Amino acid sequence: MIRDSHESKLAPAQTSARRFIRADDVLSERFTPAEARRLDLKYGNEELLYGLDLLDLAGPFYRVTPWELEDERGVRRINASGYAAVPFGDMPPVITEFVQEFMEKNRAMALPQQSSSPWRAALQTNLVSLLARELPSHADDQVFFCSSGTEAIEGAMKFAKAWRPRAKYFISFGSGYHGKTYGSLSLTPNPEYQDVFRPLVPGALTSPYGNLDALRTLIRRVGPDNVVAVVVEPIQGEGGVNIPPPGFLKGLGELCQRHGIVVIADEIQTGLGRTGHWFESAAQGLDPDIITLAKPLGGGMVAVGATIVRHPIYKKMLGGLSSKRHSNTFGGGALAMAVGLKSLEYLTDNDFPARSLHLGEQGLARLQALQRRFPKLFETVRGQGMLFAMQFQPMVGLPLPGLLKELVFEATAILALREIHQARVMANLSLSSKRVVRLSPALDMPQELFSEMFDRIERFAQMNSSSRHLLTNTPASMTAQLAAFAASKPKKRTPSDG
Ligand SMILES: Cc1ncc(COP(=O)(O)O)c(C=O)c1O
Repeated sequence: MIRDSHESKLAPAQTSARRFIRADDVLSERFTPAEARRLDLKYGNEELLYGLDLLDLAGPFYRVTPWELEDERGVRRINASGYAAVPFGDMPPVITEFVQEFMEKNRAMALPQQSSSPWRAALQTNLVSLLARELPSHADDQVFFCSSGTEAIEGAMKFAKAWRPRAKYFISFGSGYHGKTYGSLSLTPNPEYQDVFRPLVPGALTSPYGNLDALRTLIRRVGPDNVVAVVVEPIQGEGGVNIPPPGFLKGLGELCQRHGIVVIADEIQTGLGRTGHWFESAAQGLDPDIITLAKPLGGGMVAVGATIVRHPIYKKMLGGLSSKRHSNTFGGGALAMAVGLKSLEYLTDNDFPARSLHLGEQGLARLQALQRRFPKLFETVRGQGMLFAMQFQPMVGLPLPGLLKELVFEATAILALREIHQARVMANLSLSSKRVVRLSPALDMPQELFSEMFDRIERFAQMNSSSRHLLTNTPASMTAQLAAFAASKPKKRTPSDG
């Protein structure tokens, strides 16, 4: 049995058996933010929360309006974080009121694994209709539901492999992000996430994103019949909002179709309006065989993932006596499906993809103006729809050797994130790009708040007109603690208030 070799620094009274924390304690906020942070640190992902705590970013945060959160000191911030999974803000009334009604009135079975479900039937029908409106060849598609993005990708990989059982290679792209379970991790070419888990799922190959010639060469090298699927994000989200050159996705589709290679479009981040279209792949001329969705489908409140699959491919894996070859317990549950259905309805009724495209152009123009005004802070800015990236100039002059350079990039983005937070906007780092801070505001954020968010980003830029200032504006004691944290091995830590 493995035991922790280090002593906890938490006071003994806090480490011994404690009173059961009741749901009502949390709901009534008797369970204080400081206590929540301390116990989250002790029993949860300690290192992650410790780092956030050092930066004063650990929260917990509480909803003021769907688009604004406050911390325990009452500082109110515009929320543009949420990793593109919060399409209508935090606990939006459109969903919460519907959930209350659902709780009162719903009689359909809650977890209908082995029976028909009205909620699941409605959501899958609507998803397929929506897709077929954009890409008519999908009118007979079928849907498999699950509870996360990574699980939607695992399903997609299995559908593709069952369709081409003799082929052995999956091709994904540099800087891509598809999740962290074994299959999806194998398609996420990031050494930080992959290295310790090798060997990964065999046959995962990487091609440079946006380079059709390189993909063609790779497919030719391994032999087209040996390729199960090409898995692509139509715009890379966690890679730092990378938009491929025009024609890349269309060419990819034609290339794969010529050889019968399955195309999996990972629309978990881009899909359902974030980048200004219902399906970004379709907007860029790609007609994929499998599409994965997740994040916004859950309305920012519940976990819903979906793998939408062409009929023959679906049948090949789950046809006849093989209908249980792939399954899960919670996918298709009534609450998840109901929230998914309501989210899709709200998106459709208000045509939020169109709003996202339109407001996104305004937002990008503001960022571009800031980049021109503050070139020593912003190296580049990118965006499409309501997905924005700010890539910062390194705060220490280059050239530096490889590893150190990476560290400087990462530290720059982390301090920028903190300064943006200080300017009262909540943003996100990118999981597969160390240099980028992203904004992914709610698609229904009121126009004034959306403009105010960019006013605050402007104030952040004025306060940090050169990336060097990110360092000088950070309290020296904080910089020292962060440096010590970065240099240290994982060990038990106490929160700053503990
Ligand atoms: C494009 C893409 N695919 C897959 C995933 C994994 O989704 P999840 O975190 O729900 O497992 C993400 C998450 O960021 C994503 O952006």
